Amino acid sequence: MNWWKGLKGKIRFSEPLKAHTTFGIGGPAEFFIEPKDIKDLKSLLSLRKRYKLPLLLMGAGSNILPSDKGVKGIVLRLSSPYFKQIVFRNNSVEAGSGVILSKMINLAKGRGLSGLEFMAGMPGTVAGALVMNAGISGRNIADLVEKVAVMDYNGNIRVRRKDEIKFGYRKSNLDKYIILSSALRLTKKNKKKIEEEILEHINRRRLTQDLSSPSAGCVFKNPGGDSAGRLIDLCGLKGKTIGRAAISKKHANFVINRGGAQAQDVLKLMDLAKRRVKRKFGIMLHPEIKIWQ
Ligand code: EPU
Repeated sequence: MNWWKGLKGKIRFSEPLKAHTTFGIGGPAEFFIEPKDIKDLKSLLSLRKRYKLPLLLMGAGSNILPSDKGVKGIVLRLSSPYFKQIVFRNNSVEAGSGVILSKMINLAKGRGLSGLEFMAGMPGTVAGALVMNAGISGRNIADLVEKVAVMDYNGNIRVRRKDEIKFGYRKSNLDKYIILSSALRLTKKNKKKIEEEILEHINRRRLTQDLSSPSAGCVFKNPGGDSAGRLIDLCGLKGKTIGRAAISKKHANFVINRGGAQAQDVLKLMDLAKRRVKRKFGIMLHPEIKIWQ
């Protein structure tokens, strides 16, 4: 039964997810689908309901650890040109969910629009940043949100104003929807100043984070007021290796793929870090990355 026949977007079968995650890890997705536009996305949702297929959403693949065995059903990625549109209106930017953060930051800079600089160097899409409420030291994407257009899993489109969305630390209630696009409020600023701030953020990352090997950034959320990296470091786990995965020697909340790492290796390292931190500090760490079993 070729249930996908009527769809217009790109469909791949048994697609290795390791080709689409920044970790470079992940077995095959049964169906890897990039809908052409909103209508196509709606058709896909109705087919998936009719055929009772599981569905997982992928952004830029920068925060995901898929199982080595792969995933059943559909992996949905909104990365066709339709979902990558960017429009500037006065002091706002309206960006499709599949827009890559660095692209939006650079375009805003070119127009002398400030606000996004703190996300410089973050891999990921606009939708991913919104769902996770991406941020650093007290500044979050939530602060910029005017409204977000979403689709529910029945194909209904809604527009949620900022006051209708609940944002928390590295979370939001947008995770029950498929984000289509969003409007973010920016402010006019001198281009040179924007550029300087962007470079500052990128340089800070280069100095403190392990960007030389594939990873998914920080694997754990920071526990209230502390740094997961600092705690794992104090447990003496920097450099600890299982299989081809290792806890970074530069930042202990980074697990890196040293080439050919398996999801199982990463999970074992995370479990070890969790147990050691719990034993030494009585603090429970929770994953920041999404684990697809
Ligand atoms: N530290 C250590 N050892 C380590 C890592 C950190 O002692 O191995 C110490 C640092 O010296 C510093 C403190 O811990 O005193 C905080 O470290 P850092 O400034 O690197 O920040 P973080 O809390 O570890 C958070 C975000 C990062 C974000 C940086 C920006 C989380 C889980 N992490 O890291 O986000 O880039 O702030 O400063 O919220 C991500 O979300 O993937 C991510 C990497």
